[in-house]
Amino acid sequence: MTGDASGAIAEPSLGMVLMPLHRRFLFRIMYKILIDDVETTVPAGTTVLEAARTLGIDIPTLCFHDGGFHKGAEEPACAPTTCQVCLVGIDGRVVPACATRVENGMRIESETDGIKRLRRAALELLLSDHAGDCFAPCQFGCPARLDIPGMMRAIRAGDHAEALRIVHETIPIPAILGRICPAPCEKLCRRKDIDAPVAICRLKGFIGETALRTARDGAVKRDGAVERDGAVERARKDGPLVPEIDGESRTTGKRVAIVGAGATGLTAAHYLARFGFRVELFEQADGAGGRLREQTGDRLPESLLDAEIETILGQPGITFRPNTPVRWGNADVLREIRERFDAVLLAGGSCDVNALKQSGLDCGEKGLLVGPGTYTTSRNGIFAAGTLLRPNALPNARSNVLVVRSVADGREAAESIHSHLVDNRIHPVEPLWSVRMKKLDKTELNAFVETAPDRGMRPRCEPKNAAGGYTADGYTADEASEQASRCLHCDCPGQSDCRLLHYGRAYRANPSGESVAGKTAERPRMRLLHGQGILFEPSKCIKCGLCVRITQQRREPIGLTLIGRGFGVEIGVPFGRSLNEGLGRS
Ligand code: SF4
Ligand code: SF4
Ligand code: SF4
Ligand code: FES
Repeated sequence: MTGDASGAIAEPSLGMVLMPLHRRFLFRIMYKILIDDVETTVPAGTTVLEAARTLGIDIPTLCFHDGGFHKGAEEPACAPTTCQVCLVGIDGRVVPACATRVENGMRIESETDGIKRLRRAALELLLSDHAGDCFAPCQFGCPARLDIPGMMRAIRAGDHAEALRIVHETIPIPAILGRICPAPCEKLCRRKDIDAPVAICRLKGFIGETALRTARDGAVKRDGAVERDGAVERARKDGPLVPEIDGESRTTGKRVAIVGAGATGLTAAHYLARFGFRVELFEQADGAGGRLREQTGDRLPESLLDAEIETILGQPGITFRPNTPVRWGNADVLREIRERFDAVLLAGGSCDVNALKQSGLDCGEKGLLVGPGTYTTSRNGIFAAGTLLRPNALPNARSNVLVVRSVADGREAAESIHSHLVDNRIHPVEPLWSVRMKKLDKTELNAFVETAPDRGMRPRCEPKNAAGGYTADGYTADEASEQASRCLHCDCPGQSDCRLLHYGRAYRANPSGESVAGKTAERPRMRLLHGQGILFEPSKCIKCGLCVRITQQRREPIGLTLIGRGFGVEIGVPFGRSLNEGLGRS
């Protein structure tokens, strides 16, 4: 439909023919409005939300129902406006965009700081009464943020290729970490409060070692890293680093140098190669591994370390250059490397801070200085990560925790380099935004276990054929599946498309909602009900009423309803009937 503010008449459409006469008349009048100083013309009767969407402006909504309300001219602009996250400013007033119709000449503000503050406050009010975990507690214990419950579901189902894919999203050396990581994730595992934590670290190691074994045996797996035969280019060169330029990158045309082939450098090489950069990995020793080599022994056999490192060095796009130390101590070194590469990552754990300073990099007392979440140094295009940033932390009792921290650094630095080279701006790595439940008391924990997907009541099982007390490879596939079945799947099943999560993160709302509502004394008890394949978690209900309207639309004989008043209002099935009865048709 076309027209302008003078009221030009549009061609009638089939939809208009079917509309009642007064609506047809209304939609033939066009209004000229301004949204964030951008002029647009929309039919009379359009809501502010709809008008903003025609300009591609994303106004958050939670209680607005896209599928039926406000869409046709039949529906009045009568959203219940319970969430108040769609607020906009109009001539000094603040109104919900979903329930306000445009008027000719209207000036609408949707992006001012004041409006954003109000939307954040509305989100925090909802979050203050919202009990759940977007991401599982164990994921916050893992510095690499491995999707642990996702890995558990794949292992439980016996889908080891999928488990490996999930693990490789954040950790490229699971077999090594499966042997030496002190498993900070298990300290936060909810299962710990029932009997013992799920054996997260061993299961991750099981997947890593299964991948190595199948690669060795020539089995075809989905992940490119284990399909290769392990051929590694070893262009051995003695003396100072003099990198060669050997052709264009395979996809992005960009080249990245990594100095140091320990846990950080290897991890960064893996992800940069996956992003399509050509990577050259320079190492002063005659092999890769760095400080990981100090850990070899019964616990971490050298053969396993070598085999997993080979899966990285053998990746397409990675060239390994051993015996190529960087002669730190003068400003020319970095300039020379920088001239030959689009970006440089310093990942050598043993470099002396004074030498780095003399090379022109800003350092503090605790090591090399980098931007928070960006890994950028004081020199453009030069990044740094890993133990180089915390030289005083090594060696000590926590050094194995630092290995997984170095892996996390390597991936995050690779992401930062990717955004620098591809987007021309660096997006700092953000902490994982998540609603998190307080520690559950015994009754809540029992209710949680009772409604977990497979109840997970099996006790912790030790691998029966393990040669030693710490052999991750000791699990058979069945034992691994049994162990993974103990997981309670604490992450939220709605996580991938949850708008509360999306907007909470985008508006930097406090996930606990405390900044608006004060600390919530008591959260509702965790309850899960299954009905007709529908998962209902009352403790996460934001009282938007969408489910009530959908059951009305579908003409459910019983349906759902709002029960109670004020803050005590709850969604439920009327007349005390069951969820299955309430959703008989859905
Ligand atoms: S994903 Fe959404 S519904 Fe689930 S806990 Fe997080 S905010 Fe709540
Ligand atoms: S039970 Fe599973 S999802 Fe929950 S914290 Fe433990 S490993 Fe993570
Ligand atoms: S249960 Fe109903 S009212 Fe509660 S958040 Fe879900 S759709 Fe909205
Ligand atoms: S979407 Fe407008 S008030 Fe909820």
